[in-house]
Amino acid sequence: MNNPKKIAGEKAASFIKDGMTVGLGTGSTAFFAIHKIGARVKEEGLKLKCIATSIESENLAKELNIPIFGFEEIKEIDITIDGADEVDKNFNLIKGGGGALLREKIIAYITKHYIIIVDETKHVESLGKFHLPVEVVQFGWQRTFDHLQNLGCEIKLREKNKEVFITDNGNYILDCNFKKIENPESLQTTIHNIPGVVECGLFINRTNTLIIGKPSGEIEVL
Ligand code: 5RP
Repeated sequence: MNNPKKIAGEKAASFIKDGMTVGLGTGSTAFFAIHKIGARVKEEGLKLKCIATSIESENLAKELNIPIFGFEEIKEIDITIDGADEVDKNFNLIKGGGGALLREKIIAYITKHYIIIVDETKHVESLGKFHLPVEVVQFGWQRTFDHLQNLGCEIKLREKNKEVFITDNGNYILDCNFKKIENPESLQTTIHNIPGVVECGLFINRTNTLIIGKPSGEIEVL
């Protein structure tokens, strides 16, 4: 049996060409893409300019000798490869299961070719079964929680190892269970209007290519 995340990640890495600026995603699927990019840098001598969506991915890239740059140098990205928690039939996404949604979204919005890599369990008819991550500032987070709850979801303050989870940006994450999200675009607008919200994990109209890995070894490129 094949590892669907590995084959999807490695396939995505094959889209990268010498001289490109590349966004590196976060999570267990992006991990395989970053490893493959590292191998291509080493073996083919690819000259890339990369930027990472989290401290974790930046550290991994540095270990693999992938050249990392900051926003002083990078204004636009040729290709970003990232994972997702859910992808609907219109290629809208829920992201942020790994807590990197804010940096991931900033990078997605300056990317020309946004490639999403998933296993087939994440390809769904409509979004919402996966709890929507919303990054909020620590100040008054309880009241931001109330406003989100009034939208009709159940919410959990994210924890890791029994401590409150803190993002790379020093914020909290509220995981919101909407069960089914009928209109992702309007929900995103509503959430953006709540004071204390930094960003939500809905990625609308961003994905250019979806790569789905399957245990059989088949890879679907859509
Ligand atoms: C991190 C993310 C990840 O891309 C998403 O959670 C998917 O992760 P994985 O590939 O480990 O299943 O959005 O913030």
